[in-house]
Amino acid sequence: MRPLAQVLEGRKVICCVGSGGVGKTTVAAALALSAAIEGKRALVLTIDPARRLANSLGLKELGNQETRIAPELFAQAGLHPRGEMWAMMLDLKLTWDELVERQARSPEQARAILTNKLYQTLSTAMAGSLEYMAMEKVYEVHTARRFDVVVLDTPPTTNALDFLHASDRILDVLDNDAMRIILGPMLRAGKLWFKLLAAPSAMVLRTLARFTGTDFLRDLADFMIAFEGMYEGFKERAARVKALLTSPEAGFVLVTAPNPLTIQEALFFHQALREDRIATAAVVVNRVQRDPRRHGGPDNVAAMREALMLAQIKDSGDLAERLCTTLTEQSMLADLERREVERLSRTLSGVPLLIVPRLRKDVHDLSGLWQIDQFLGGQ
Ligand SMILES: Nc1ncnc2c1ncn2[C@@H]1O[C@H](COP(=O)(O)OP(=O)(O)OP(=O)(O)O)[C@@H](O)[C@H]1O
Ligand SMILES: [Mg+2]
Repeated sequence: MRPLAQVLEGRKVICCVGSGGVGKTTVAAALALSAAIEGKRALVLTIDPARRLANSLGLKELGNQETRIAPELFAQAGLHPRGEMWAMMLDLKLTWDELVERQARSPEQARAILTNKLYQTLSTAMAGSLEYMAMEKVYEVHTARRFDVVVLDTPPTTNALDFLHASDRILDVLDNDAMRIILGPMLRAGKLWFKLLAAPSAMVLRTLARFTGTDFLRDLADFMIAFEGMYEGFKERAARVKALLTSPEAGFVLVTAPNPLTIQEALFFHQALREDRIATAAVVVNRVQRDPRRHGGPDNVAAMREALMLAQIKDSGDLAERLCTTLTEQSMLADLERREVERLSRTLSGVPLLIVPRLRKDVHDLSGLWQIDQFLGGQ
């Protein structure tokens, strides 16, 4: 088993992807921590981390701001990083605003978009918006070259393709031909749009207006006008983001749980990445059940009674039976998971696979993350 650090050596951008709740945020933070320990300036760009983890990293209310994890926190956890660990929580609305400001041809255009009534709703509610902005932010931070490595935590995407094709979908919305054809006359009419509604040719518009209200249509036309001329910039940028993600500078770490359904999703994800010419750098199987019988020990009720007696633990009822049942169940579960992991490993032959056991407690601070790192280190 190769340590993950070795697999990811030289990568400037690491994306942790996978199904919901499998441990993407945890693994992303652990990877940034291990890079910092090794002397790198590492940033974890996280999305919606558990409150306790955010708090313990000192990330309480900071949106879109790179925050250095205080050296005291490392000292408290008994860690002495040679580098620096930084963290940032993605703020969807702010990232959109920044992107618009950067891409607009003039401050007036930016202002027209940012103050548009529809903009706020559209930018944050559009499907794929979060995924697109996460990529966008990574690209921005990466090109600024302030960090040796940027680790991206990704949102709990239900469908792998949502994540990979988010940018196409957003661009489709912004550069929608159908919308342009319908709203075209309105766009051209400019401020005289209301006169246009009376024209016989505006049948479609009138019908639309009946459903949506003319205010909505006007806002929509304004929105399209405001974005005029920016599509190309957006498209170009999205292409550059894609180029970065498919380059050797980027590495995708696929996180999964050891159950059949999630593993199936992981395999699907791996395939989807491949279709986009992205290689899975490593797979992390997280929260794997430990097998209590792996080291032998009492495996029947009589032996358990004996063990309890030796340890001077009073068994006044059915303690030995219950312990035995628990151990057997745990063992069966571990066995099932082991077979799943083997299946995964066979299917993905050649992709480094790392196993992280289920820890006793949730991972909510640097010590917990460091514990995860020990397993990612190939132990
Ligand atoms: N190996 C582990 N042992 C014990 N607890 C873990 C382990 N890995 C993660 N956890 C805990 O599991 C929970 C889910 O983890 P995490 O938030 O990292 O998942 P996620 O994939 O980012 O979820 P989402 O898709 O909702 O963003 C957290 O409370 C985390 O502390
Ligand atoms: Mg998460």
